[in-house]
Amino acid sequence: MTTIEAERAVVPSEPFGGGSAIRTTELTKRFGDVAVVDRLNLEVPAGSVFGFLGPNGSGKTTTIRMLLGLIAPSEGEVQLLGRTMPGRAAEALPRVGALVEGPAFYPWLSGRQNLERIDAAGPEGDAATRRTRIELALERVGLTAAGKKKYKAYSLGMRQRLGLASALLRRRELLILDEPTNGMDPQGTREIRNLIRELAADGTTVFLSSHLLAEIEQVCTHVAVMSLGRLLSQGSLAALQSDATPVMRVDTVDVELALGVVGARGLSGRHDDRSVSAELGGQAPEDLCRLLVEAGVRVTGFAVERPSLEDVFVSLTGEGFDVAR
Ligand SMILES: Nc1ncnc2c1ncn2[C@@H]1O[C@H](COP(=O)(O)OP(=O)(O)O)[C@@H](O)[C@H]1O
Ligand SMILES: [Mg+2]
Repeated sequence: MTTIEAERAVVPSEPFGGGSAIRTTELTKRFGDVAVVDRLNLEVPAGSVFGFLGPNGSGKTTTIRMLLGLIAPSEGEVQLLGRTMPGRAAEALPRVGALVEGPAFYPWLSGRQNLERIDAAGPEGDAATRRTRIELALERVGLTAAGKKKYKAYSLGMRQRLGLASALLRRRELLILDEPTNGMDPQGTREIRNLIRELAADGTTVFLSSHLLAEIEQVCTHVAVMSLGRLLSQGSLAALQSDATPVMRVDTVDVELALGVVGARGLSGRHDDRSVSAELGGQAPEDLCRLLVEAGVRVTGFAVERPSLEDVFVSLTGEGFDVAR
């Protein structure tokens, strides 16, 4: 057993309240008159990979700051690993790794040196095993080669990776990651996704926010959907998807025409420049297909699919989600 493995083996896994890693009760944050987080009741099961979803400005970062005790709620309560925050932060926080928007690193130090400082400041930062911990964390986020580079020369994606590395210096029961793939290219995004899967397989609960539905869909077991500070829905991904009806997708160059046909049947369609899709809501796909063809839509493909997370979001809000990278 390596030192790191030995350290993992002795991590206390004290039971906590009701199998929830995070629970909030009527959590509210007002800035002036505006409730940017509005009576939020989150329930994050232990062991889940929980996607906290919402467009920019929907209150995700503000919520995460309250979860970690970085800002005080206007109303409501946070339980983190069964401990009420911020009163029992000293018990909860050592068991939580976090990556929040704009982590504080020293620009003139290298990534590796920054991690050395953070590790030395932690309560369990045994100096004898520090180098191993840091190399392992750098390796996990793909920064081994760039470890010597100064932080100020890092790209946004590399800064995010370093933030993740600092959350991974020790094994944690819960990781709270605010838009961890922000600023990363598709390759980096894939790497982070794989890392999250590995961590989850190790038993770590991962709570991550994102405004990119497609990214989250591939890694999460549970999701919560936010819009304008309110929670629209939460639960297992499977349950959320089975609440929405199947989606028909038609491939065509006659997008406007197809949207018109779908709209005339009372369905709200979404489109890109080659296809239109809409939640079927109980209508027969064969009828729609016939209507499309009769209206002169040149159909090059027609499919009935399980709703994607984006379809679910559209059916919850009646509007599109920011899916642009
Ligand atoms: N310190 C603050 N003072 C005033 N308004 C704020 C402050 N922090 C965030 N907000 C506002 O709260 C809303 C939610 O922001 P945020 O939690 O950052 O959303 P998200 O992370 O989902 O993009 C935004 O409209 C933002 O402008
Ligand atoms: Mg944010």
